[in-house]
Amino acid sequence: MNTKLALLLVALIALPAAVLCQQQTKVTAFRPGEIWPDENGQHINAHGGGVLRYGDTFYWFGEHKAENTSSALVGVTCYASEDLMNWRNCGVALSVTDQPGHDIERGCVLERPKVIYNKVTGKFCMWFHLELKGQGYNAARYGVAVADRPEGPYKFLYSQRANAGTWPIEFGKEQLSVIDTLNADNFREGWTPAWRKAVGEGLFLKRDFGAGQMSRDMTLYVDDDGKAYHIFSSEDNLTLHIAELTADYLHHTGRYTRVAPAGHNEAPAIFKHEGTYWMITSGCTGWDPNEARMFSAPSIWGPWTQHPNPCRGPKAELTFGGQSTFILAIEHLPLNIEHSVAEKKAESNYVQSSMVNVQYIFMADIWRPRHPIDARYIWLPIEFEDGKPVIRWRDEWK
Ligand code: DGJ
Repeated sequence: MNTKLALLLVALIALPAAVLCQQQTKVTAFRPGEIWPDENGQHINAHGGGVLRYGDTFYWFGEHKAENTSSALVGVTCYASEDLMNWRNCGVALSVTDQPGHDIERGCVLERPKVIYNKVTGKFCMWFHLELKGQGYNAARYGVAVADRPEGPYKFLYSQRANAGTWPIEFGKEQLSVIDTLNADNFREGWTPAWRKAVGEGLFLKRDFGAGQMSRDMTLYVDDDGKAYHIFSSEDNLTLHIAELTADYLHHTGRYTRVAPAGHNEAPAIFKHEGTYWMITSGCTGWDPNEARMFSAPSIWGPWTQHPNPCRGPKAELTFGGQSTFILAIEHLPLNIEHSVAEKKAESNYVQSSMVNVQYIFMADIWRPRHPIDARYIWLPIEFEDGKPVIRWRDEWK
């Protein structure tokens, strides 16, 4: 047999075996920061995402990332899982379009998609951060899409800025009279104490009052009473807004509040534990990691109080190299999740097994802007210490 023929035969035998191996990839633990293969052995491509539980299945929605650009060339992807570790690729849930000038034209920026299920309408509602093609991050809009099935296909409905012509619910006569006095011409130089004070008082809120408030990094939250909220970075990323959604989860009602005015927060992720709302955010350093922030409130409408960084362990001051994206509440689930945890001690290689009652999973992204498709995921359990959430680094856990 000549060499070429022999090589061909080896390739023919090896190829199906390789495909078979890929299909058999079984994930047995969470390994934050590592490649996370889906059931076909491909690194999961669902960044800046969120998870929806529907029936006994979890659906993970996220940004499809390309090899060399962070712009959206595909759209929002969807993966499904029953155990949160092994995910099958359900394909593209919301596809970008080739129609020139369309809001979600291929090459736009489509980030941080989240999906919630509306029990009344039976629809799956997707919200995301949208930047129009060719306009950098100037559009600062949210987009909305809807589907009849969790995995889609989602139909794009509209995109726009938030709550045009409406002041936050806390703005009474006093705040409005302060707003009246704010004049952008007096604050040409940014980042001075006076400028920061003016931003806190609503300098940018006033600027965008007519056209609508900016809407960038975002998440969605459905409360126990079925009311849903859109939480997003607004006012040049300086102030977070929490806006109530209509009963069909497809629009804002016009009721909204500001959180941490002039605090410069991105990447909001929220959960509620024993009646307290907890929100974890990041600072604003582009794709680079920074120290996580944490806030709590007795009501979604506040008042919100800031707490120290909840992260513990190596690189805790940089959110372990990641940026928050979502907090998955898995309490009340009739799921057989193994709660044992292998924790690698920083000072030695000793691996200790311990029991953790996992009720919430903190999800974050390690961005790779020069090779976006290789961005990694950090999923870590949230624990409580002295009544406050704590996120401890673990190389591996189940
Ligand atoms: C940080 C945001 O959290 C990301 O979603 C993305 O918008 C990058 N900034 C872009 O620099």
